Order: sequence, then C-alpha cells, then structure tokens
Amino acid sequence: MNGEVMNNEEDYAFDVAGYLHVPGALKSEEVEELNQALDGMKKSEGMLGWPVPQREPFRDLLVHPKLVWYLNQIVGHGFRLDQAPQLLGYQEGEVGDKLVGGDEPRNPSRAYYQQNGRRSSQGIKVIWALEDVVEGDGGLVMVQASHKSNVETPPDLVTGVDEMGLVKQLELKAGDLFLLAESVLQGVRPWNGDSKRLLTYWYAGRAAIQSNGPGPEAQIESLVEWAKEAAPEQKSVMYKPGFKGSNPAPVLNTDGKKIWVEENSEVIHPSIYICDPNSRIDEKEFYFWDLNGYLVVPGVMDKEWLAEANQAVDKYQVRIEVGGELSGGSVSQAGTGRPLLPGLLNLPSPYSAPFRRMITHPTVVHRLNWMGGSGYRTGGATVFCAVDGTSGHSLHDGNEPISPSRGYYFKNGRSYCETITIAWQLRDVEPGLGGFACVPGSHKTQYPMPSGIRTCDETMGLVVQPTMKAGDVLFFMDGGCTHGALAWKNPIPRRGVLIKYQSKNSNWGGGVIDPQERWGNIVEDMTEEQFAVMRGPERDGRHRTVPRLVVQDDRVSVSYDPEGDRYSSKYRKPGRKP
Ligand SMILES: [Fe+2]
Repeated sequence: MNGEVMNNEEDYAFDVAGYLHVPGALKSEEVEELNQALDGMKKSEGMLGWPVPQREPFRDLLVHPKLVWYLNQIVGHGFRLDQAPQLLGYQEGEVGDKLVGGDEPRNPSRAYYQQNGRRSSQGIKVIWALEDVVEGDGGLVMVQASHKSNVETPPDLVTGVDEMGLVKQLELKAGDLFLLAESVLQGVRPWNGDSKRLLTYWYAGRAAIQSNGPGPEAQIESLVEWAKEAAPEQKSVMYKPGFKGSNPAPVLNTDGKKIWVEENSEVIHPSIYICDPNSRIDEKEFYFWDLNGYLVVPGVMDKEWLAEANQAVDKYQVRIEVGGELSGGSVSQAGTGRPLLPGLLNLPSPYSAPFRRMITHPTVVHRLNWMGGSGYRTGGATVFCAVDGTSGHSLHDGNEPISPSRGYYFKNGRSYCETITIAWQLRDVEPGLGGFACVPGSHKTQYPMPSGIRTCDETMGLVVQPTMKAGDVLFFMDGGCTHGALAWKNPIPRRGVLIKYQSKNSNWGGGVIDPQERWGNIVEDMTEEQFAVMRGPERDGRHRTVPRLVVQDDRVSVSYDPEGDRYSSKYRKPGRKP
C-alpha cells in the first residue's frame, strides 16, 4: 500500500488468476469488533442498516482505505456497491454444485478489461475473512484464469459433474481480504462442519448495471409520458436502469418481419459461427487448453510400448549427460544438475522405435492440428531423467513480453499456438514430488513474470504441478505459458520424453541462414549493411546472432548490440533472466 499503484506481483496475480489474496488486511481488533457485532445480532445480512453501534464496523468496511486503494486500481475510480454485505453461504439457493461466471459468452457488465496498463474488472466480489478457512472446509470455490476463458464452460464443469481438476477452494486467515472478479467461474460449496464467517460485499464499475437495489426504486416503473400509448415492444426499449422491469433487461426479438418481447430473459446475441460438430475436437480439452495453456491426455501408451521405451532408456543410461543446475538462484528449487538423455530418435534399431512412433502418433497429430494448425516440424526427442535431488528449472516464458514466434492467440474458435512441446510420461508423476510445472493462464497475461514465480520461492498459489500416470501425454504452450520444473524429490527418477514442435510460421533455431546460400550470386560484393538484410529467417533467441541495422547521423551501420529491442537490459522487465 505504500506505492501509488499495485506492485507487479499483485498486477500479475490478478491478471493471471482473476483474483487477489491480500493477507492481514484487518487488524485483530477490527476482526474482533465485526465478530462481536455478528454474535450480538445473530443475523447473516442487513448489516449496513443494523442499529448503532453494530452497524458501524460494517459501514467502515464499505470504504476501508485498503479496499478503496485496491478497488480504484482493479475496478476503476468511481466504483460503487452493487449488493449489500452478507455472510457467504448462508442464503437459500446460494450453496450447491453449480458454478457461475466464465467469459464465454462474455457479460460486459461483469467482465475483465485490461489494455496498456489500464484495467477494469466491472464486477468484484470482496471477501473479508472473519475466521480461518482451511482446505476441506468448503465455502467459496473458483477456477483460476477463467475470467479470460475463450471457450464456453463445459456443462459438466458448470454442474459439478466433473471438476476437471480445476476447482480450487478458497483458504484464508481471519483478517485477510480476497478480491475476486465476478467473471471468474465460481460457486459456493456447503460448509463441512461449522459455517465460516466470510463477509462478502459486491462492487461494480461506476457505470456497470448489475442488480437492482432492494429499495423502493425497484418497485416502481419509470417510463416516459407517452409510454401509456406505447406497444409492449416499444416500452421494452425504454426501460430505466434500477426501476421495475429493468433487470433482467427486456429481450426484444424479431424474425425480420414481426417483433415481439420474449417471455424469458435469456440474452439474445447471435454469432456468425456455430460450433462445428465435425471438428473432432473434444470441447472439454479445448476449454482446458485455452484456459490453462497446457493439456494432459491420459493413457496414450500401452504397457508394451511403455516397456519398450523404458528398456531403451535403461540400456543407454551411460549416455545420460548431467547438465547445469537450472533453478536460477531459487531457494526452494535448488539442487544438482539436470540429467538428460538426448538423441532418442537416433538410437540404433530397435531402441529408437518406441520414440519414432511418438512423433506422428494420431493422438499428437490431431491435437497439433487444432492447437496450432498443420505444417509443424520437430527436431528430436530427449528424455528428462531427473533423480532425487535434481534442481528445478526456473520458470520461463509467458505472454509478456509478447513473442510472435512463440505465443498463443485465440480467434474465431481457433487456437494459434506457435510452439508446442509434448512430454510423454514413461513413469508416474506423483503429487508434490517435482517435475513439470506451469502457471495456468500466464499465456494471456499482460504483466511480466515476477521473480518469485521464476524461482518458485513466492508462487502466490498460481503454480501448478500436474500429476500424471505412465503413458500420459502432456502438451504445453512452450513460449506462451510460463513453465519449467520443480525440483525432483522422488527416489524413482523422472522419465519424461520431450519433443518440441514449431509451427510453419517462424524459424526458431538453426542459425542465420547464409545469404549466399539463399540468394546465390546476386549477393556478391554487397556491403555488410546490404548483406545483413539478405539472410533467411531466424528468431534470434538468446544467442543474438541476427544483425541489426542502426542509423546514426544519416549513416547506416550493422550492429549485433540488442540495445533498443526487447532483449536489451534497458527494457528488461522484472523476472527476466539476465
Ligand atoms: Fe522451456
């Protein structure tokens, strides 16, 4: 709260997840006073209208300085209260398996907006914890990053039939503040045991129409003078927000000739597209992929195939190369160097066979086609063989800064992912024992990765380490989604075969293509400056081999100094490796 704006950790966390946890926002005396008022009144709502002195601490919270400071930045100046405070999970119909929210179809009155550092989350649920809530208690649940989901929420997830490993229960300590975007997919589960006191206020952007108030305004119609003579269709487009008949808004429809007011309030907002039942895309998978930036397809390899692959790795143990320690200065993920066994596709027959089978397996081809479009290519296959004590690999990449050759983009129902890496699991990956880790939702963030995420020393609860079974296949947005590995803590060594695919759209590596080879004789006797623009495509990665042309005093010269482009230390953002 010392600065004028939220720090990068807070910006990042809210942008990635759609929520922000502010520990210790209330002093224990403040918590005590609120709890005493609740004990005295024995009610779960109506606090702002309670008698003095019980109402006072609830009115203080309405404009608590810490809250105002956050809401000014997250919702925007001029925010307002939309719904009166109440204790979460006490109202009839509030508790159940159903989830609400998500961003497809988008509800602009509750949606999240962020562009060029300006942000407005049009609806925010503010939760003050008056008691500790721990894992398994029930209460508020939500799905990380779902405020940016491009794909309609699968019905099974909405109804609670299948949580898809995505539903997280909120954990808080008494005095904590939690800010949750209304567009995040969320719900209230029954309390296990005693109900916990989560005091909830709903705020909205200054112009956002959400609910009508409980006062007299909502009981009366407010219409223009001539409305008495107007047809119902005409009246339906003259409603006044906040008054009777305005919420939900009337739904006017037409077949092109007739017009009528629909009886139910379901929004009509046609799209020019229809969902393609012939795409053969599993819609749950698409949702998961777009939401998180990774996907696990279970049980692709059978026992026999697994045995062949594992035998090949067993046989070539002597070829394992132990590389560097990759935790990047992390305290929690430090360890020994990373053991790799590269060149699996080049092993002598029959040992290469189980790996060669992987690169064009139908499971892979089908998904690569919808994830990034056809035309991809691969380099080779390497098995990661971390042992107990191998360091983590500091998390890297993400959507900020944007990298066209490596990023993720969604448009008109298509996933455009430029680099996809696949990890075939030859052994089980257990919970909490290390391995691949990523930040679900980071492929859409517009804030740089904080250093605590890079090292995994301060993850803010955003990092996920998927558990997998031998034979499962992991796809991830290499470059789009922030990823890496947690230190391996399993006495059984890791066995994940990594195969990278690059789209047809950019050249990821392989050095600068020689101008002579590309153009032949026409480059003869060119100046160095002319020669510099005659090379073939190359992304320039971290090796910075691509020449740049600079102009000074009307003279052009060649430079390999990245100053002025995004690799420059001058422009480097927090969390980027030097
Ligand atoms: Fe990577």
